[in-house]
Amino acid sequence: MGRMKANDNGIKIIIWVVAMFLLLQFLDYDWNIFNFHLFGGSRLNNDIHRNIPYDSSEFRARQIDPPLNYEPNAHIAIIPFGTPPPVHIPDVDARIIVITFNRSHSLRRLLESLNKVDYLDDKVVIEIWIDRNKDNEFDEKSYVTAKNFNFDKGLKTINIQKKHAGIYGQWIWTWRPTKDTKEICVILEDDLSVSTFFYRYLKKVHAQYDHRPEVNGYALQAASLKHGGGKGPLQAPDENIVFLYPVLGSWGFSPSRDNWIGFQNWFREAHKNQTFLPLVPGILPTLWYKKELKAGTHENIWTMWQIYYAYSKNERTLYPNFPNKTGMTINWRENGLHFSKAVEVAGPLVESWDERIENLPDEPVHLDVNGTIVKY
Ligand SMILES: *[C@@H]1O[C@H](CO)[C@@H](O)[C@H](O)[C@H]1NC(C)=O
Ligand SMILES: *[C@@H]1O[C@H](CO)[C@@H](O)[C@H](O)[C@H]1NC(C)=O
Ligand SMILES: *[C@@H]1O[C@H](CO)[C@@H](O)[C@H](O)[C@H]1NC(C)=O
Ligand SMILES: *[C@@H]1O[C@H](CO)[C@@H](O)[C@H](O)[C@H]1NC(C)=O
Repeated sequence: MGRMKANDNGIKIIIWVVAMFLLLQFLDYDWNIFNFHLFGGSRLNNDIHRNIPYDSSEFRARQIDPPLNYEPNAHIAIIPFGTPPPVHIPDVDARIIVITFNRSHSLRRLLESLNKVDYLDDKVVIEIWIDRNKDNEFDEKSYVTAKNFNFDKGLKTINIQKKHAGIYGQWIWTWRPTKDTKEICVILEDDLSVSTFFYRYLKKVHAQYDHRPEVNGYALQAASLKHGGGKGPLQAPDENIVFLYPVLGSWGFSPSRDNWIGFQNWFREAHKNQTFLPLVPGILPTLWYKKELKAGTHENIWTMWQIYYAYSKNERTLYPNFPNKTGMTINWRENGLHFSKAVEVAGPLVESWDERIENLPDEPVHLDVNGTIVKY
């Protein structure tokens, strides 16, 4: 008799589990693997936990979605327990990687600026990568912001890191190009806003300079200091629309494919060596790195590894040199890893198309770490 009872309970539990599973199929929830909708009918969904084929007419004929709503509400407040694996959408012209952790208002501002960009009708995907903290928790507000963002001009995926990736993991391992990919990738931290022209600019510079082995990528920022410690901002003479420089700019960086693969392969090994330090003589980042090393926080400066690699291979990064120091990105310099004080300053963004970008020089000028023109 007691045995019968245990079996009954077992059956009840199975029925209950099956019922719950079926119920979840009708909710906006990550266990909704069949994607039925009880509420909202055929709500447009560009949230790629499923893979929407890129060329579908649905994508091209996309309507403008209802007004954005970023606040958590009952409908979207359900955060998945287990997070789905990162989704990779192949065969795109542009892959915009947004890395974020715990600054949902910054994330929202960046995503809104990305929505206004002229993508020239190219196939674009925005990949939002949300990191976890060291206890492997992620920020729910960031997830909700990402989920509620409607990208009008392409697709979006939300990728929650499986465990704490940190600034290294977020920067170095989110773009995994194959040797023959033709896509343009750009990596953006969440405290940036972009110019509506940034993609047009990137297409031009990639087309013009990707074949040059010393060009490791394209910085989008206007503002930079001189990494050698020289006074004043980094700037080329006005007649140069672009210039090459030994240190990458990380306020929006679009890597050149082959050099990025080379950097990734080198970093994978070099980072294992506990006694190796990526120190480059004569530049400020080395001093910052050493200081952080003492404090045990050097893992915040991922760029040191890229700077070292570029130095060892004699690589350069291409910077824009627009009039009035306008940039393809601006950095809001908020609290976070890089700035200890939240100062809301924004330089001007490029607001008109400079015709000189149509006619880029074959040989851009090279500047050294103090902004002096040098022979390469
Ligand atoms: C995000 O930041 C807030 C405020 O500083 C903090 O309370 C929260 O724990 C952080 N979330 C994560 C996932 O670290
Ligand atoms: C750059 O300028 C700083 C400060 O004037 C100087 O100490 C340094 O030697 C210069 N570096 C180069 C490569 O010219
Ligand atoms: C690790 O780095 C140290 C210091 O640069 C170097 O001397 C050593 O040869 C490296 N070890 C390996 C296995 O590469
Ligand atoms: C640069 O700024 C000056 C003064 O604000 C303005 O008159 C000029 O038109 C600007 N140049 C460009 C190319 O935007």
